Amino acid sequence: MYNIEHNYFPSAGCEFPPPEIGKFRFIDLFAGIGGFRLAMQSVGGECVFSSEWNKDSQTTYFDNFGELPAGDITNISENDIPDHDVLCAGFPCQPFSLAGVSARNSLNTAHGFACETQGTLFFDVMRIVAEKRPSVIFLENVKNLVRHDKGNTFSVIKSAIEELGYSFSYALINAQTVVPQKRVRCYIVCLRDSAVEFEFPDFRGEPIPLNSILDDNVSDTFTISDRLWAGHQRRTATNLARGVGFTAFCVDIEKPANTLVARYWKDGKECLIPQQDKNPRMLTPRECARLQGYPESFKIPVSKSAAYRQFGNSVALPVIKKIAEKIFNHLAEEKKCSLEPIRN
Ligand SMILES: C[S@@+](CC[C@H](N)C(=O)[O-])C[C@H]1O[C@@H](n2cnc3c(N)ncnc32)[C@H](O)[C@@H]1O
Repeated sequence: MYNIEHNYFPSAGCEFPPPEIGKFRFIDLFAGIGGFRLAMQSVGGECVFSSEWNKDSQTTYFDNFGELPAGDITNISENDIPDHDVLCAGFPCQPFSLAGVSARNSLNTAHGFACETQGTLFFDVMRIVAEKRPSVIFLENVKNLVRHDKGNTFSVIKSAIEELGYSFSYALINAQTVVPQKRVRCYIVCLRDSAVEFEFPDFRGEPIPLNSILDDNVSDTFTISDRLWAGHQRRTATNLARGVGFTAFCVDIEKPANTLVARYWKDGKECLIPQQDKNPRMLTPRECARLQGYPESFKIPVSKSAAYRQFGNSVALPVIKKIAEKIFNHLAEEKKCSLEPIRN
């Protein structure tokens, strides 16, 4: 049976079904593999709409949540989106990330909002907010969003949200105290008709070492080839001498890993694990899942390269969960989250 309203296939069975009794409703935009969804479900949220256009990510999403996200958000009318209490969106970050900006500068192509295909997606979020007026907007992006275009990009985002009558609070949070990964991201939470600042949870603490999530016996297929390792070392030496660019090192597994990025699948340079009497190895997709705090039961049904891309693009789940708990408290106080079942 196919339930159009929720795009949900109850008969398919899945690892992470919606809560029996939803306490509030949320939507999952730019859903990827559902990092926001796992976190919001963990505090009793029921997802009433999701959108993700990448086919591989849709596959992973479907296998885990039993729901096929709708495709390109630019083709979906805000009027067709169900009412909801929380709008979640990790809108695409490449147009704003340091790497994305320098790549686009060297190709002489537009970045930020001027990047027509990816830069304007924030305004798709805004047209949905304007129509549906959720209680809370919850956004995630790269830390460079704050500084991009000398702060103008961030000012435009803040003004657009405030003009719709929302408060605007943000925090740059390093996930390294809740996952074994240095990952600083910009989290934005906006409250409707409120002058009150959203108070972000505290993430102070000891960084978690990478060795806490590494497997002992990893197939040699993850060991990088002589050619790749020699190339890494050569380019690293040249660039270090010039003081710029590409560097590839074996990581210190007693410390958190570097930020997992979508391009990791190409050559693994961001996180190479030292091995005795062998070239270093890459992380496995399952280890990448752990690096982002995903549960062991999360299914990875796609190719190795697609899985690396998906986890690199995703979120540090425990960070989203801790923020989700605070959002839940806000909804409960506002009596938006009535603690009554939202489905009869
Ligand atoms: C930064 S990732 C978000 C990942 C997600 N937060 C997660 O936990 O996996 C942005 C996602 O937006 C998707 N995307 C980009 N443009 C889109 C569009 N026009 N419509 C729907 N999805 C889009 C990309 O495929 C990508 O998966």
